Amino acid sequence: MSGKPDLLSLFEKKFAYRGRILRYSHNRSLKKRLAKAIIHMDALEKIGTPIIPYIASWKIGRTDIWYEFTGKGLEEILNCRAGDMLADAFRKNLSQQYLYRKQLDSALVSKNVLDKNQLAHARQYLRRLSEKSGKSEAIYQIDNGRDTVWLKDIALIETYPESEVVLSLGTLIDVTNEIQLEETLAETKDELEKHKKSLENMLVKRTAELHDAQLEVVTRLVQAAEIRDDQTGCHNKRLSKYCSIIGKAYGLSKGANWLMCNAVPMHDIGKVGIPDSILLKKGPLTADEYDVIKTHCRLGHELLDGGQSQLLDIAKAIALTHHEHWDGSGYPSGISGGDIPLAGRITAVCDVFDALTTERPYKGAWAIEDAVAEICRLRGTKFDPKIVDIFKQSLSMIEQVHKRYVEKDRVKNKAG
Ligand SMILES: [Fe+2]
Ligand SMILES: [Fe+2]
Repeated sequence: MSGKPDLLSLFEKKFAYRGRILRYSHNRSLKKRLAKAIIHMDALEKIGTPIIPYIASWKIGRTDIWYEFTGKGLEEILNCRAGDMLADAFRKNLSQQYLYRKQLDSALVSKNVLDKNQLAHARQYLRRLSEKSGKSEAIYQIDNGRDTVWLKDIALIETYPESEVVLSLGTLIDVTNEIQLEETLAETKDELEKHKKSLENMLVKRTAELHDAQLEVVTRLVQAAEIRDDQTGCHNKRLSKYCSIIGKAYGLSKGANWLMCNAVPMHDIGKVGIPDSILLKKGPLTADEYDVIKTHCRLGHELLDGGQSQLLDIAKAIALTHHEHWDGSGYPSGISGGDIPLAGRITAVCDVFDALTTERPYKGAWAIEDAVAEICRLRGTKFDPKIVDIFKQSLSMIEQVHKRYVEKDRVKNKAG
């Protein structure tokens, strides 16, 4: 059975119909639906809208596609006449396809750019998907040899099982400008991202350089002070290690502990202001001379004051408070308990332990257990009880440092 000849010839004449469905035997409701759709789409095109209407069709489960109707605009874009040729041209010229789906809570489009090899599979997949959902949405890039054009395609999908035919009633709209703008924006975003990354890397590098420069200045300052008072050997190195062990066990952050360990070698920097006759005196000090020695805390604080870095801030606090006592009987300010900065309290314990366990011009080196007993005896009077407890708990690590550096000092003195 064939379709009504009068309808076919009318459509061939009026709409330059080159399709297949009206030409052959098909379900009546399908033919009726198609005829109405062609009339509507033709009317739509005549309004002069930039939208290009089309009706595509395929057999259920088959891969080939043909067009029942195409707006003039598509023929112009593809540079060919309507009909089966157009479907071929569309396939051939389609170089990229953006699949997109609308997010539930926004109008954002998630894109997936496919290359030519992936397109064949994607088209089949899209077609099966659209048969199920009743709609299809995609963006195509058409390369017709003259220009590159982007088309946004939105279509209603209707399936006619009796005829085993699917109709895709769609509209195409030229979105070349929008896509190009989107691509330019994406490129700009990439550039900005790269620029941001390189600035961040530069900042990390500069900060590290600044840290190194600060440490170098500090090390040289401490070395200058040690030249005058060379009896202390590796005192500052051991002290820094002891403080690091206590700071870590106390729960200081890595950064805070780093600052304390690198600041502590400056605790006696104020001694540069003490005359040689007192600082290097072999015999016992008079009370007046001892008072002069005590001024090294404030001298050190003044020397380190006005700095711009956290390192110098902590060094200043340690220089001023490492001779303060937990019960307030220390110097130079006589402050007590938690009023003494933590770094000052930690330095106080480690400084005394090192002084006791190493040889000085006025005394021999104490055995470690005697020094620990002395520290414990002064728990709660001279020293913060919590720091003393942590010190005792960390003794095995402290002893290892002591052994390593005392040996280094011995070798150094022998060589000297
Ligand atoms: Fe001191
Ligand atoms: Fe010291």
